[in-house]
Amino acid sequence: MNQPIGKPSNSFNDEDSNRSSNPRFDDVVGVRLSRRGMLRGGVAATTSAVFGTAALSGCASMGGMANRIDTLGFAPVPRSLADTVIVPAGYKAQVIVALGDPLLAGTAAFKNDGTDTDFDKRSGDHHDGMEWFSLDASGKASATYNSRGLIAMNHEATTDEKLSSFFIHADGGTSTLPRKGDEVDKELMIHGLSVVEVQSQGSSWAYKADSQFNRRVTTMSDAVIMGPAQGSPHLVTRFNQDATRSRGTLNNCGTGKTPWGTYASGEENWFGYFSRPANDNDRRGRNDKSVVALNRYGRAAGAPSRHGWETGGAADQYVRWNNGALAASAREDYRNEMNTFGYIVEIDPYDKNQPLHKRTALGRMGHENVTFAIPVAGQPIVAYMGDDARGEYIYKFVSDAKWESQDANPANRMATGSKYLDRGTLFVAKFRDDGVGEWIELSMKNPIVAANPDFEFTSDAEVAIFTRLAADAVGATRMDRPEWGGVNPRNGEIYFTLTNNSNRTVDGEISTDAANPRFYSDMRGTRQQLGNVNGHIIRLAEAKPTDARFKWDIYLFASEAGADKAMVNLSNLSDANDMSSPDGLVFSPATGICWIQTDDGAYTDQTNCMMLAALPGKLGDGGKRTLAYKRADGSEKRVDTQIGKPQSEATLKRFLVGPKGAEITGWCETPDGRAVFINIQHPGENTKMADVRDPSKYESQWPANAGYGAGRRPRSATIVITKNDGGVIGS
Ligand code: FEO
Ligand code: CA
Ligand code: CA
Repeated sequence: MNQPIGKPSNSFNDEDSNRSSNPRFDDVVGVRLSRRGMLRGGVAATTSAVFGTAALSGCASMGGMANRIDTLGFAPVPRSLADTVIVPAGYKAQVIVALGDPLLAGTAAFKNDGTDTDFDKRSGDHHDGMEWFSLDASGKASATYNSRGLIAMNHEATTDEKLSSFFIHADGGTSTLPRKGDEVDKELMIHGLSVVEVQSQGSSWAYKADSQFNRRVTTMSDAVIMGPAQGSPHLVTRFNQDATRSRGTLNNCGTGKTPWGTYASGEENWFGYFSRPANDNDRRGRNDKSVVALNRYGRAAGAPSRHGWETGGAADQYVRWNNGALAASAREDYRNEMNTFGYIVEIDPYDKNQPLHKRTALGRMGHENVTFAIPVAGQPIVAYMGDDARGEYIYKFVSDAKWESQDANPANRMATGSKYLDRGTLFVAKFRDDGVGEWIELSMKNPIVAANPDFEFTSDAEVAIFTRLAADAVGATRMDRPEWGGVNPRNGEIYFTLTNNSNRTVDGEISTDAANPRFYSDMRGTRQQLGNVNGHIIRLAEAKPTDARFKWDIYLFASEAGADKAMVNLSNLSDANDMSSPDGLVFSPATGICWIQTDDGAYTDQTNCMMLAALPGKLGDGGKRTLAYKRADGSEKRVDTQIGKPQSEATLKRFLVGPKGAEITGWCETPDGRAVFINIQHPGENTKMADVRDPSKYESQWPANAGYGAGRRPRSATIVITKNDGGVIGS
């Protein structure tokens, strides 16, 4: 927020060459920017902007690149430890919606002192992945409109310590069990999804607090189980005994926009919200498949829950978080409740009356995001996904249904989602040392899956629910925490961030291999960090998205600029672009820029988390590299890998640095690429709960210190970035 605000341009956000018959902005949509929004933007209430109804010709997505950029036109921003958002000269960043902001009519303004309630009617916490959905002047879905749209976003988690989400409770909340029911009730509502209408007027953006489109989906919202897991005995609960419905979505991380115009979201670290009694293995039977599965999905017997929600009271919304086999059958308790989470979920952002759908055909894991191959008429829909945990896998889904172009604008979006996402085949990636990889089928048709000695698969429903166990059986490659995937609109190549892996060793259980080749030491102050501390970005190319084979190389090794160029800084990063822990990765449909965002704890002694703009080349633009390590016994281990070409300021530049304690995540844009929205997640997350009433001790006071909102408590928030001359972001 520290860049000067430039002179607003009336033609800022919409291409406005068609001035002839378009009505004034505020005449048509009755836009009523909040007083606060207008003051923030410094735009007078009477300022009008004219928008073009045919702002773009052609398709802005799926390879169209309405405003393709081949040169990064901004000066890189330096590393920063300041408690502010820094963008390049000539740009401005503006907060538009933050934790607690009212989304539904009649909700009180957010006081931000821990006394606020009604979070089911407010923006949730920890804004994460998000997608843009245009609305035209009459409020209909549009593919091209630039001044009005819906942002659908994830609220992944909350800033917590010792059980409690402390910034939303006046005194920080209870840090011992049992938790208070009224505190749990708030925490149940700050997770989930939001749909928020946003509008621009000139260069100023604001969300519309009373929009009919605004929506919250929480941990308690109605959900429909779709795909192979529907009706499975593994999803039977006291709430729903035929396993067709469930409640809520949880720990929603990355996102995807489907080719038919809906919002897809990944349920990521959901397992941590459940508790299991210490005697639960005995109650289930020690060799029971459910015990094998619970262990594989991070819930050993006796595992405590992250927030202790199960102790909030005797009511159903609390006891559902106890994952124990407590009663005589699964129909009477919540032993299977955890199996209703871990999916790619889908909503129609334009229709708040359609419930969330769990697309179980895409497997159950710690889903980061989902990204779609450019759809081709007559060919299956193909989606790529990462499972974000140390040593987990990269997956691909291929639909049974073949793409029909008219489905890009269907009458019923959720039914179209069912057409493409409920029947298909899941594959997992195996990376070979020679730069070739295989997609291995995960289904009962694969005899290796069916013959898994550790877990006897009996159906494709079980493959969908216990996907990690099927992937284990076929020997998939254990990766350095797969985060976001993205598809390059220039050539269809698939990128995955591998954020970091402190478990990677030279010769241990997860040892260096061709696709995860680095092990090194890095100092954070006086603390030594070992493993693949900074992460990397891998790249895949397929002749066709339906192919069973791919080629791969490592596009980028994240690193400190000063690190050893032979073993660590293999991509030649400099002060203009060095980074650690790439997490978010989205290719702009408008410009083709690859935006990379960090969620780092390794380089944060020298810089807050950041966003960079990249113009990647293509697979094979570098070459083979061999890294030589010494084993503990003195022998040499050589790891052959494939690396992309070295970086320079022409191909990779730091664009933004965030406030203290925040990760940068979520990315979407208007179809013309002139407004980019990102999320600042968990500013001030290293604040101590004991200091909750003392703002002077907060690690961050953002966005209050940028002039946004009441109170001083830090808040996750969505910001919009615009260029002072009205240009395309990154140009
Ligand atoms: Fe929620 Fe993998 O980041
Ligand atoms: Ca360091
Ligand atoms: Ca993430």
